[in-house]
Amino acid sequence: MERLQKVIARSGYASRRKAETLILENKVKVNGVLCNTLGTKVSRKDVVTVNGRTIEQEEKVYYVLYKPEGYISTTQDEKDRRKVTDLVPNDKRIFPVGRLDYDTSGVLLMTNDGDFMNLMTSPKHHVEKEYRVKLQGFLRKEESLQLARGVEIDGYKTKRCIVKNVEYNKKNETSIATIIIKEGKYHQVKKMFESVDHPVLKLKRERFGVVTLKGLRTGEARRLKPYEIKQLKESAKDK
Ligand code: URA
Repeated sequence: MERLQKVIARSGYASRRKAETLILENKVKVNGVLCNTLGTKVSRKDVVTVNGRTIEQEEKVYYVLYKPEGYISTTQDEKDRRKVTDLVPNDKRIFPVGRLDYDTSGVLLMTNDGDFMNLMTSPKHHVEKEYRVKLQGFLRKEESLQLARGVEIDGYKTKRCIVKNVEYNKKNETSIATIIIKEGKYHQVKKMFESVDHPVLKLKRERFGVVTLKGLRTGEARRLKPYEIKQLKESAKDK
């Protein structure tokens, strides 16, 4: 149980001081009943409204998951495949931030903070995503440049990006490359390499903004540190 003014303040609706004023001004209801007594204790199950708006009581949580291949990034699947939400604590309604394909592995952020999710995935914002990708055939220098300048996928020209650290496996006729993009269109990386005739054989996201897989084994998740959350929010504003 917690004091009403604290619950209101923690939700970000108002400062603790302002919350106290709102309570005294008859603006706050608990479970539909007016409550103007400072210090009233409420639990997470109580529905608190201020000026008719419900206060979000759930603590916001942020995870980075090392998504294994063979997991789906949605919360429901008609084929009953394994889900990324099976790999994080499930006491809260946590959703993946954007998607990684079923056969893609790597960094996947997960949260119950809808604003954060929108900020990270909105096309207006620009968080860097770094992928290591295995390709069919030898990716030539001109093709890397073409990708870096932007290629057309589904009638849309991709923004400038970075393609680097290209290595060849002569025996298997495959290449490995790093690509850093700031967008996140559906199947973007696969479609970009397909556009230069190098189908993606394997895809791993190694970084999302400042967040990497360091210290995580496949299938493991950890809570993001406050500075990581802050830096992610700031990097969303970068051009
Ligand atoms: N691009 C893709 O094509 N697939 C992913 O899973 C992520 C980026």
